[in-house]
Amino acid sequence: MYSKKVLSIFQNPKNAGGMKGANAIGKVGNSACGDIMKIYLLIENGIIKDASFKTFGCCAAIASTDVACDLIKGKSIEDALKVTNQQVFDVLGELPPNKIHCSVLAEEAIKAAINDYYKRIEKSSKKEKKSIDN
Ligand code: FES
Repeated sequence: MYSKKVLSIFQNPKNAGGMKGANAIGKVGNSACGDIMKIYLLIENGIIKDASFKTFGCCAAIASTDVACDLIKGKSIEDALKVTNQQVFDVLGELPPNKIHCSVLAEEAIKAAINDYYKRIEKSSKKEKKSIDN
């Protein structure tokens, strides 16, 4: 069902786990299959310095999130936003047709994490503004 490559990434994901000091966390889920992905990012000066994940789901979901983390590490936020599920799929080589959505979820998790980063910035700049106004 799964290729050797997908199984090997699933069995030895490089980026598995949470991250102390992460300044962005994206969580997405697929209600149809029940899988949940969480991507943790450390972003400094607009660059993704580190990325890790916790995924509760199928083999393809775990392998997809691991590859997604590899694809965005070292990239600018803008370039990370351009990473697509097709790129995740291309690295994996193949996925069963009923598992393509797992790579889509990985793309969504990246976007959710970056969205969270922007929300945090907005929140902290509002706080700063408030303390300046007072
Ligand atoms: S079966 Fe849904 S993300 Fe894998």
